[in-house]
Amino acid sequence: MAEVILGISAFFHDSAAVLLVDGKIVAAAQEERFSRIKNDAAFPINAIRYVLKEGAISYDELSAIAYFEKPLLKFERLLETYHAFAPRGLGSFLKAMPVWLKDKLFFRKSIKNALKPLGTAKIPLYFAEHHLSHAASAFYPSPFEKAAILTIDGVGEWATLTISKGYGNKISILKEQHFPHSLGLLYSAFTYYLGFAVNNGEYKVMGLAAYGEKESEEVQSFIEKIKSQLVDIREDGSFLLNMDYFNYATGLTMTRDDYWQKLFDIKRRMTKDALEQHHSNLAMAIQYVTEEIVLKLAKTAIKLTKSPNLVMAGGVALNSVINGKLEELPEIETLWVQPAAGDAGDALGAALVTLHILEEKPREPQVPDAMYGALLGPSFTHAHIEAVAHYYPQILYTKHESEELLLNTCVEALLKGNL
Ligand SMILES: [Fe+2]
Repeated sequence: MAEVILGISAFFHDSAAVLLVDGKIVAAAQEERFSRIKNDAAFPINAIRYVLKEGAISYDELSAIAYFEKPLLKFERLLETYHAFAPRGLGSFLKAMPVWLKDKLFFRKSIKNALKPLGTAKIPLYFAEHHLSHAASAFYPSPFEKAAILTIDGVGEWATLTISKGYGNKISILKEQHFPHSLGLLYSAFTYYLGFAVNNGEYKVMGLAAYGEKESEEVQSFIEKIKSQLVDIREDGSFLLNMDYFNYATGLTMTRDDYWQKLFDIKRRMTKDALEQHHSNLAMAIQYVTEEIVLKLAKTAIKLTKSPNLVMAGGVALNSVINGKLEELPEIETLWVQPAAGDAGDALGAALVTLHILEEKPREPQVPDAMYGALLGPSFTHAHIEAVAHYYPQILYTKHESEELLLNTCVEALLKGNL
């Protein structure tokens, strides 16, 4: 009988579902593609229905369901953090607790209830640790028999970054850094201070960084301030954040704005405020500091695992500018990054943890890789698109018969400054 595993990530951001049949990815999709809510955090019932349909599998035929993190460990982290920082954070504590006590602590039941409309069979439900899911999503689909694995994100249960060794069907974690010392959250704090949405606008900070004045005194002084006041970086890439400057461990915001304003002499930008040169310079400074840390971590990972192949996942691995720099590192022979490096990809990672670690199924690396591209979700035929466009008279559309003509039209429109 086929081994059919449904992987799920949900309730945080970028909810998603993946279907694995005998280790092969049959379909994968984010809930936002169906609900049309960007980064939708809802239980991905539509995405699950889609992947099951794509695989022509009924719910009752599933061998296992895998969830992308361990909720109880996450709850323990919240409690210990509140305890460690008390009395700071009382307001946020009082706001978070009822939600956890009502819904989140009883995850197994909530997930089973949400799945009820799909079938009646009792399918085993497993919980894979968040960073192990990221590591699995990076290593198992990669073409390598052996690789160094680096996962970096905001936070999972406790871990914010891990270095592991992947070998065959095994992953061993060699180093972990814990909350609140998080590179993802440091970057998100700058995202927030620069007026963009956290867990969403980080790519805008990366883009904004390109407009910084590289040789300027301001960028240099921002970098110095970040490295002397906010983050203490060690040679192996591990670091400590100065929590006096951050509010995310206990509060409902990312930064302590009065401290930041004093340090950088810039007010927190509101979303509607104009973007000025000092904003680009600040973005460039945090991009450089992040790059320094990731490059150091990558070298450490290569050194510890004695493997020149590096694979990566976790939200920070979506920083393509840094990935470009990693490719130039002489220590790295081949770099492979999970295309769904954010939490959506953890649905895949959790399913792979279940298959290779829990069930100890062997793994055959594939060339070029076992992802089959990044387009694993729903697609639409020309006839379908035309029928929808035709149905709504207010939609203006032109159907181009050749792809070349379509590309030319799009390029011309872009050159004219159109979106
Ligand atoms: Fe993550």
